[in-house]
Amino acid sequence: MKTIHVSASKEYDVLVERGLLHRCGALIRGVCRGQSAAIVADETVWALYGEVVSKSLRESGFRVICCTFPAGEQEKTLETYAAVIRTLAAEKMSRSDCVVALGGGVTGDLAGFVAASYMRGIDFVQIPTTLLAAVDSSVGGKTAVDLDEGKNLVGAFYQPRLVLCDPDTLATLPPEQFRAGMAEVIKYGMIGDEDFLNSLLARPAAEHLEEVIAACVAMKRDVVSRDEFEQGERRLLNFGHTVGHAVERCRGFALSHGEAVAIGMAVLSRAAVNKGYCSEETLTRLLQALQQYDLPMETDCTVEELSAAALADKKRSGDKLRLVVPERVGGCRIETIAAESFREWLKAGGVQ
Ligand code: NAD
Ligand code: GLY
Repeated sequence: MKTIHVSASKEYDVLVERGLLHRCGALIRGVCRGQSAAIVADETVWALYGEVVSKSLRESGFRVICCTFPAGEQEKTLETYAAVIRTLAAEKMSRSDCVVALGGGVTGDLAGFVAASYMRGIDFVQIPTTLLAAVDSSVGGKTAVDLDEGKNLVGAFYQPRLVLCDPDTLATLPPEQFRAGMAEVIKYGMIGDEDFLNSLLARPAAEHLEEVIAACVAMKRDVVSRDEFEQGERRLLNFGHTVGHAVERCRGFALSHGEAVAIGMAVLSRAAVNKGYCSEETLTRLLQALQQYDLPMETDCTVEELSAAALADKKRSGDKLRLVVPERVGGCRIETIAAESFREWLKAGGVQ
């Protein structure tokens, strides 16, 4: 088992081990003394893993409450949030009980926000079942739901008590979801570790998933422990996200979050080469990695569409935008630009 300890406003472990799902109840009992555990899962994940997790929780003495919702980003809404939180209230969940987020980033973000706000905060445990959730969204305490006006506009920083990652669950993941998670994995190589990116180029990540997940979580842990509330360094984790979120908005979530981030990293890196921030070689290595893991590198969204969408994003700060710009493989910087010059960055990044 790989254990990564996170030190933020809460201390907690991220445990990575094949087969962990079957003994999640005992591990959750170690951090939660309450009587009830509410499993939040989308219907797809519930059908695959709901019974295993429920059984294990019951064996550890929990009364299990099940809150399911249809799968997909379009369900990460205030309406789903309200339905889940009202179930907790109807079931008389107390402050000592816990929420178990079983699923991908949509479930983790939604269930985390439920846990952050129900009775002003109850314990929650993340059990990520997508690669994206395993390497990124289940760690670090960002929780949120979307509004029509933009992604993740309502949420809270709220750390879990425990993260249990069982790489065996990724075996049922559709290939496009695995690829989407690889965009975030590649992101870690680009922002923080050249050797790690090289290892992804040298050997398929699927052949050594435990190591890959643990390496990403350790990098995220380091960033989050230094800047939990995203005042500085944590913004580096948004590499590819400003353009990526804009692509998601323009395409109405026809692309996955990971695919959109892949496009965002490629656009920003092309622009960085054209503006003299990094070498052509840096771009080539990123594109090689994206190509190797079958990720998109271009968008048919226009400069006008993307700039309008990006300017509505919550990460905009007044008339400024913060972009994460690569300087080399393993090193990025945060560049604050005037919002009106974003069009020029998009053009430099090859967007028409
Ligand atoms: P998701 O949760 O919608 O999962 C993708 C799809 O995979 C869903 O249809 C789901 O039912 C299915 N699925 C999940 N696990 C499965 C499994 N093991 N087998 C078969 N199917 C499975 O999406 P995601 O890509 O995991 O997460 C994207 C979300 O994460 C976005 O909302 C994004 O904003 C958020 N996010 C949050 C953070 C954070 O720090 N909180 C970081 C990155 C992304
Ligand atoms: N995925 C970005 C963050 O957690 O900060």
